[in-house]
Amino acid sequence: MSTITEVKQRTDIVEIISDYVPLQKAGRNFKALCPFHSEKHPSFFVFPEQQTWHCFGACGTGGDVFSFVMKKEGIDFGQVLRLLAQRAGVTLSSAEVSGGAEDKKKERLFQINEAATEYFHHLLLSTKAGEAARNYLSKRKIALETIKEFRLGFSPNSWDALKKFLISKEYEEQELIETGLIIEKQGGNSYDRFRNRLMFPICDVQSRVVGFGARALDESLPKYVNSPQTAIFDKSSSLYGINKAKSAIKQKNLVIIVEGYMDVLTAHQHGWQNVVASMGTSVTERQVAIAKSLTKSIALALDADAAGEEATLRSAEVSARSLDKAEVKAILMPQGKDPDEVISEDLALWQSLVEKALPVLDFAFETVISKVDINKAKDKSLAVQKLLPLVCEIKDPIQQSHYIRKLAHTLKVSESAITATLRKSQAEQRRQRLTKAVEQPRFTRQLVSSPIEEYCLALLLQYPELRQVAQGLSAEHFESIENREIFTQWQYSQNTSELREKLDANLLEHLNYLMNKPILDKNGKEQRAFSDCILSLQERLSKRLEAGRELMFNFTREKEGVNAELAKLDEQGISSSEQLREVFTKRGKLARKEVR
Ligand code: CTP
Ligand code: MN
Repeated sequence: MSTITEVKQRTDIVEIISDYVPLQKAGRNFKALCPFHSEKHPSFFVFPEQQTWHCFGACGTGGDVFSFVMKKEGIDFGQVLRLLAQRAGVTLSSAEVSGGAEDKKKERLFQINEAATEYFHHLLLSTKAGEAARNYLSKRKIALETIKEFRLGFSPNSWDALKKFLISKEYEEQELIETGLIIEKQGGNSYDRFRNRLMFPICDVQSRVVGFGARALDESLPKYVNSPQTAIFDKSSSLYGINKAKSAIKQKNLVIIVEGYMDVLTAHQHGWQNVVASMGTSVTERQVAIAKSLTKSIALALDADAAGEEATLRSAEVSARSLDKAEVKAILMPQGKDPDEVISEDLALWQSLVEKALPVLDFAFETVISKVDINKAKDKSLAVQKLLPLVCEIKDPIQQSHYIRKLAHTLKVSESAITATLRKSQAEQRRQRLTKAVEQPRFTRQLVSSPIEEYCLALLLQYPELRQVAQGLSAEHFESIENREIFTQWQYSQNTSELREKLDANLLEHLNYLMNKPILDKNGKEQRAFSDCILSLQERLSKRLEAGRELMFNFTREKEGVNAELAKLDEQGISSSEQLREVFTKRGKLARKEVR
């Protein structure tokens, strides 16, 4: 089985999309306000049986889970594959991880980061220039073993030392800029980003250096400078120390997420190898997703400062969203201390704090409620206002009702008042997630292989002259991501060898399959066969749109009444009320019309 197929089989489109948009049950399907354009009535549908999605409104577009994430995150196919593979627990072989034009470029960036890591590490350990940094680390009680384990380094106090070093290794200035190690100055010149700092290489799960954090050696500001967002680094989807922590996380079946680089070093040095850092931000959904792929049990070390409250609520909100798949707890730090200090001063205290961790929602409840006077009506509303968004995010109806009851009980208000407020705020925010929708239908995931899509592509690839008659074809015609991606890249390529260059390595197998697929319509019949394919694909798309519009009407009717809906569509110019009325009353079929 190909990796892509395996990822598809282990991924549920409903689960993925509901991480981005609240889905409401609509018969066997789900609907939502389209996340790609603004609208007042849901025209975005997810079809669990086909594992596809479609917006029947202004976008008029759709596809599978890959194309959804590509569009939503603005990332390419290879990146989505890696993301979904990781989430689904499918390991990509190293050949699949590299290869393809885009991946070759990224491979270079990894190499440059690797060279820089070695350079900084060497300077720290073995040069006079690194002495101040060595002293700093010893003052912070970081052992040599830890320094080596995490490959800490020192960036010299120079505007171009690293740049010169890397250029001498035959890397191009442009590539150096793309890693973020070098900053491009207006007017051409460029200089080293990290100067006179303690360097923390940040790695992905596979131990590739994706970026750097860099601490000043004294009180000067900014305390930390980090790599910017690059093709291989996104701070909010990285966890510092994950490569060194992954086996301990699996073994202990627990991951502890702290804030800082120093916290991670100290924790590991004291035997807590299951600790990683979110690097200053409140934990993001993608960080939770990485953690969740290793264990279902997550603990966040949260500081006691009042200033931490907003961050806590944000973390709690993120956690609430994955409550049905993982347990997220909060470890409360003593006032004014971070894990680094607690661990190095009193390891037993740290141990007991970890043991006393509370579910993060209970923790959020306590923080908020301890700050209000629950005898005052105004304070009650305030507390509800802060906590309800968290309760809203809980997908599991049992857990949600548990927290509704808890909120009602603590604030001494009726459950029905809380529930009513919940409903109202859900409606206001247009983030309804009907609790009923959570009972997902058990479907057998049939992966629709699409013979017409494949035949159409095989023709196109094997008979280059068909390019001239392919104008009628668009990426939208291909529902399966492998086909869509190959078609899209084909549009930008002159020939198949160029296409091969552009494609992600994981698609090459499918490309070969298509290029060798037997063509039945030979000897001049190719063009005819190709036109037939286009027609069938067009017809399939139109049918989907039609069925979708019908769905939309059936479901919006229940709520808003059919007339409002018809008027709205008239406004959008999608079709005349008369035709829709016909569909609606099933008297006739909707005449096929172009949908934007
Ligand atoms: N951070 C950052 N940029 C800053 C400040 C903080 O990226 N200007 C991130 C770093 O990942 C840092 C984390 O937020 O590790 C926590 O910040 P802080 O508690 O200030 O730093 P510590 O890691 O505790 O460092 P130290 O103990 O040396 O003060
Ligand atoms: Mn600290």
